[in-house]
Amino acid sequence: ASAQLAGQVAGQAAPAVAQASASLTILFGSQTGNARHVAEALAKQAQGKGLVAKVVDMADYKTTQLKNEQYLVIVTSTYGEGEPPENAIGLHNFLFSKKAPKLAGLKYAVLGLGDTSYEFFCKTAQDFDQRLAELGATSVLARIDLDVDYQAQADSWSNELVAKLEPELGASAAPSAQVIAWPRVDSPGADIASASGSQYSKQQPFAAELYTNQKITGRDSTKDVRHIEISLAGSGLTYQPGDALGVYFLNDPALVRELLLLTVIARDTPVSLGNDSLTVEQALTEQLELTQSYPAFVEKYAAATNNAELAALAADKAALRAYLNERQIIDIVRDYPGLLSAQQLVDALRKQQPRLYSIASAQAEVEDEVHLTVGVVRYDAYGQPHLGGASGFLAERLNEGDNVKVFIEQNNNFRLPASDETPVIMIGPGTGIAPFRAFLQQRDANGASGKNWLFFGNPHFTQDFLYQLELQSYLKRGLLTKLDVAFSRDQAAKVYVQDKLRQHGSEVWQWLEQGAHLYICGDANRMAKDVQQALLDIVQQYGAKSAEQAQAYLDELRVAKRYQKDVY
Ligand code: 2AM
Repeated sequence: ASAQLAGQVAGQAAPAVAQASASLTILFGSQTGNARHVAEALAKQAQGKGLVAKVVDMADYKTTQLKNEQYLVIVTSTYGEGEPPENAIGLHNFLFSKKAPKLAGLKYAVLGLGDTSYEFFCKTAQDFDQRLAELGATSVLARIDLDVDYQAQADSWSNELVAKLEPELGASAAPSAQVIAWPRVDSPGADIASASGSQYSKQQPFAAELYTNQKITGRDSTKDVRHIEISLAGSGLTYQPGDALGVYFLNDPALVRELLLLTVIARDTPVSLGNDSLTVEQALTEQLELTQSYPAFVEKYAAATNNAELAALAADKAALRAYLNERQIIDIVRDYPGLLSAQQLVDALRKQQPRLYSIASAQAEVEDEVHLTVGVVRYDAYGQPHLGGASGFLAERLNEGDNVKVFIEQNNNFRLPASDETPVIMIGPGTGIAPFRAFLQQRDANGASGKNWLFFGNPHFTQDFLYQLELQSYLKRGLLTKLDVAFSRDQAAKVYVQDKLRQHGSEVWQWLEQGAHLYICGDANRMAKDVQQALLDIVQQYGAKSAEQAQAYLDELRVAKRYQKDVY
């Protein structure tokens, strides 16, 4: 919604005459939208002071522009083992390549977003910072690396940056006379159009009604996957295939009760949280993160309970990471019981972050509904059953007719081709099927003539063939040109989607040469990497290329937005 607002501002300001003064370019590298939101807020702050600022998605940034930039801000998150988010890979590669220009005249600043639970915290932001300096650019404000609850610090860093830039970039003209450059050219028009006129956003989510919660894996499945339908009626929220739904959830009352029992805190003890006054039970149920664990909690809890052993663990980063694996907050409190005040407990916990689910429907088909394919996180560990926060809430505690707070998180880096004639290859094992159900609904509604090829995988045909009837009917009708399935545990040797890709390597290569767009959705740690390797092998073999040439081919596809990933 902020893009929409800024778009309107740009519209109003358009008749004014542009100042020939320097401008600020803010690039974001974002997978889940956080860096994008920070970049947009920074642009608004700068524009409020009369500076000329524009926000550009790194995936849309022309690297040939770099040498013309005078003021550059990079806002980026980091993924996996210190890797750049998908949309930042191109620029990251370019800067570290021999093609990178000298940037002696450039002034820059970098803001990193990350998660201190990971070893390579904010690595991508560090990379950009270091590399820009190596290329001769001058830092105007020290980089800041922020954890999951980044908002307040991001705001104050942005304030400080704008204050620093104001004298240099500054408003020789009154703010109203400045042209506000919003990236109508640099990023796709969809960018602004899809951030519909709704008043609802991440900050102000819509209380949406749950219509349907249906288990779509079989009784004997190792997995519990739900098909969820939610009503957006009355919200004005709109979305496109590829977008995600942000979901806020309530923690399990039983979990909250156990935590209060263990810490001997009365449930109605008043606490404060930000500007709110509420009971500790409310804070734990509605506002705080209990179903993940994070280093900051261990440190603060160890201090509040005077536990020297736990404090020592908190100080050893590698040991702490290993310890936190699969543990939720309750596990830590069970392991290290101690007494602390209700306020101390609340202060040790971080605020709940909404979870993002790739949307499994297209509005052309379902109108004001939104569908999700939710894998319920449920596992035994440390002698106790565990249930995921949002997935547990959606699957087990939310009844049909109840409300759930949601918002749309747009993802311009996972989009159907502009042309309905372009073939698409979709690789989506497990719940990775979700956005492809949306793609197929959209292509169906458009009467798109382009070929569609889906690769799906899961453990067992009889238990785990998600959306089997729909997909088979799409195949029968010809909407799906090809459907290849890998049921990994139906035979002695595992068969995965990448095996199916390899098996059809020659035809995959033909489709690519016909201009097909390639999409991968699902597990980031293993699947997406293995699939990428299979693709490289196919390009190498059938395209008669070396390993480096095959890599360059896929890189080009990525830059051309013909190779897109939504992996988690
Ligand atoms: P498995 O659990 O039988 O090993 C969806 O989770 C499907 O992805 C399952 O069939 C799962 O198989 C499979 N899977 C597991 N690891 C994978 C990998 N590295 N690449 C592709 N698919 C994988």
